[in-house]
Amino acid sequence: MRNNTALAARPDNDIGAWLEEQENKSLLRFLTCGSVDDGKSTLIGRLLYDTKLIFEDQLAALERDSRKHGTTGEDIDFALLVDGLEAEREQGITIDVAYRFFATAKRKFIVADTPGHEQYTRNMATGASTADVAVVLVDARQGILTQTRRHSIIASLLGIRRIVLAINKIDLVGFDQSVYARIVEEYQSFASNLGFTSIEAIPMSARYGDNVTSRSDNTDWYRGPTLLEFLENVPLEEGRDSEPLRFPIQYVNRPNLDFRGFAGTVSSGSVAQGDAVVVAKSGRQSKVRRIVTQDGDLPMAVAGQAVTLVLEDEIEVSRGNMLVAPTSRPHVADKFAAQLVWFDEQALNPGRSYILRTETDQSPATVTELRYRINVNDFAQEEAATLAMNEVALVNVSTQSPIVFDSFAENRETGSFILIDRITNATVGAAMIVNPLRQAANIHWQALEVDGKARARQKHQRASVIWLTGLSGSGKSTIAGLLDKKLHLAGRHTYVLDGDNVRHGLNRDLGFTETDRVENIRRVAEVAKLMADAGLIVIVSFISPFRSERQMARELLPEGQFIEVFVDTSLEECARRDPKGLYKRALAGEISNFTGIDSPYEPPVAPEIHLETAGKSPEEMVEAVERWLADRDAAGQEYDDGGGI
Ligand code: ADX
Repeated sequence: MRNNTALAARPDNDIGAWLEEQENKSLLRFLTCGSVDDGKSTLIGRLLYDTKLIFEDQLAALERDSRKHGTTGEDIDFALLVDGLEAEREQGITIDVAYRFFATAKRKFIVADTPGHEQYTRNMATGASTADVAVVLVDARQGILTQTRRHSIIASLLGIRRIVLAINKIDLVGFDQSVYARIVEEYQSFASNLGFTSIEAIPMSARYGDNVTSRSDNTDWYRGPTLLEFLENVPLEEGRDSEPLRFPIQYVNRPNLDFRGFAGTVSSGSVAQGDAVVVAKSGRQSKVRRIVTQDGDLPMAVAGQAVTLVLEDEIEVSRGNMLVAPTSRPHVADKFAAQLVWFDEQALNPGRSYILRTETDQSPATVTELRYRINVNDFAQEEAATLAMNEVALVNVSTQSPIVFDSFAENRETGSFILIDRITNATVGAAMIVNPLRQAANIHWQALEVDGKARARQKHQRASVIWLTGLSGSGKSTIAGLLDKKLHLAGRHTYVLDGDNVRHGLNRDLGFTETDRVENIRRVAEVAKLMADAGLIVIVSFISPFRSERQMARELLPEGQFIEVFVDTSLEECARRDPKGLYKRALAGEISNFTGIDSPYEPPVAPEIHLETAGKSPEEMVEAVERWLADRDAAGQEYDDGGGI
């Protein structure tokens, strides 16, 4: 989106001054949202077109001016105007959001143009995360729709405080003031507790240009600004400098032994030379000795500035941590309540492990409790077991390690996070932190002197979890039983965890919905981990159909302990064997959520051992596993179980 305009220009004064003026203009980011047919594209097209004309008027004047002064032609790169777009690209989570740039004499604008279809809420949220204003489009004939409410709630959750309610297609209702008034009233009563500081309702026709960039003669009852006037004059969000210091550390800069600095961008507040700062996670205190930038040292840095801080003391701080104001510290916790918007087509599974990412930190995390779903139409609190795409809920979240955060109400930058699917890497949710939750009765990990290593050594073996995954009837239990027997005879200490058996006891309360299976595997993984820590060779035989949970189990265990074995038997073959008659019943519709029939199985991508069972006997399968174990031990990997938990 570069505007390369050939311009007859004088290389010095006027043009230089003009460009500088452009550069110094304030930048407003906004996004448009609404339903599919509300006229969003037309509106953006209209804005771009009209402002281009305004802009070119200005250029033409300048050109005339320049000519008068008798200058030579020269190309000017207006890329200067487009800075800011880069930051968006670098965020890396930008998906299908078109950012468009335009400018007027007063201001520069970046508009995030997000698709209006229901399934694109994710994109809307991406656009909203940096926007100052949301333009919510409404079709005057339709009024406020569920989608309007949903988008408004998401805008509110993402910290947007100013709304333009663009009541479009006003020409199609005869420029009727009462239609406008009714929609405004309905929206205002809906939005009254969304925390918006202003709602500017503008009657317009994007198609014909009424009240977009120029005032309409058809709406003489309307006294407010045109859309462009509003966008040009709305105050930019201020006040980030007056918040307490938050300096998330991006990396530790240590080019040589004499220099050690913490590089990052001041997220809120300000920091000056000599200021006391505290490391959020450890509570260690120090003072700022230097504020280093490429252009030399600064006496002070404010929100938005990228700097490297050098402290008076040698203290341990790493990426993901934060330097903060000693008098106003953020929360450091691994449990908190948050408002979550779910973006993924696959429903949220409480219990499933996702990657939680804040501005600088990340940790595996699970939604431990879905407290209630929020009905976007009337804010009713509804009970729910999962969250479908576009739904909003209050949830409790638990991270594997503590993270640093503020409540979103206090700090938009440090109070939000996204959830990422471990397998697809898609952003599946965005959330605003409400408050930290207290640890249940102060449970701390008890360090034991006899550790997993010692216990495995005593058994003369390497603690392992041999995790068999595959369809029902693929042969997992047979292979598990035979492997167990052979290892036992060879003097190994083993234990088999089998799906059918564990479901009789520990997991008696679980069925076969996706949520229950996730919980099933979570518990089994935890049990396997304890058993491996007891020094055992644990053979796990569960369908474990989802990659996410197998990955979670892998990460739960010390490096190298998890051995994924894919028992690869085709669905046709399993259904043919049908040892328990279950496929027959599933195909007859008597059992629902049956793996392979009406519930998915996600095969491993890179299992340690891949057993293609077709035409082979269980003995051959077990031998293949034994060979793998023998090769691993022979490969000279230390006789070591990977240590304690
Ligand atoms: S898992 O998907 O949660 O890992 P698990 O291995 O515990 O499943 O249990 C699978 C066993 O439960 C199957 O071997 C079969 O005997 C039985 N079963 C009963 N209903 C189902 C079902 N709907 N889907 C799969 N297995 C089922």
